Amino acid sequence: MQQPVRIAPSILSADFARLGEEVRAVDEAGADWIHVDVMDGHFVPNLTIGPAVVKALRPHTKKPFDVHLMISPVDPFLAAFAEAGADTITVHPEAGPHLHRTVQAIKALGKRAGVSLNPSTPAKALDYVLEEVDLVLVMSVNPGFGGQSFIASQLKKVEAIRKKIDALGLSVDLEVDGGIDQSNCRRVIDAGADALVAGTATFRGGPSAYADNIRALRG
Ligand code: DX5
Ligand code: ZN
Repeated sequence: MQQPVRIAPSILSADFARLGEEVRAVDEAGADWIHVDVMDGHFVPNLTIGPAVVKALRPHTKKPFDVHLMISPVDPFLAAFAEAGADTITVHPEAGPHLHRTVQAIKALGKRAGVSLNPSTPAKALDYVLEEVDLVLVMSVNPGFGGQSFIASQLKKVEAIRKKIDALGLSVDLEVDGGIDQSNCRRVIDAGADALVAGTATFRGGPSAYADNIRALRG
């Protein structure tokens, strides 16, 4: 069932010199989850943050940490992110080697498990694992950088996954990530998303704009 939309600001677009303050500011501005983009310079062509930063940010908010791992291999790092304070841990099937095993490992750590699909990865990649996960993250840009343009072809994938979740009667969150702003958020929600990641569109204009930015993303 599609829930009221949750907004997850990606701290990739925050001021890295003031990350704790930035997390507190988006929390106070109405963010539902804090989206943390973890990149390894190997699975994606960029390097960002690791578990030490997640741990340092944990005391700054009670909101759930939605940790998006764009790293390969991923299994050796799951425990570190769980211990650092992640609430949801999302992985890509291509990070390998065994998606089902990775999902089981996240759940064994007591965390919510997510699976993320790149723009060219079909919804079919969720077969045999959808029933096991708490969240599906559809990428509407190729992973690696904030500030890219929204890839509209992904709306069809969101619709297809929404149908599948509802047909099976599952309570899986359907989140979309990349290039989402106040001009396209309505289309994404109408396609069936109930969680939106937004980096650029949350953090533009500085702290005094965050509350309005987040409100406008609810469609
Ligand atoms: C891309 C990341 C996204 C990205 C979102 O690899 O997963 O979370 O930072 O940033 P915007 O909203 O600027 O596209
Ligand atoms: Zn992300």
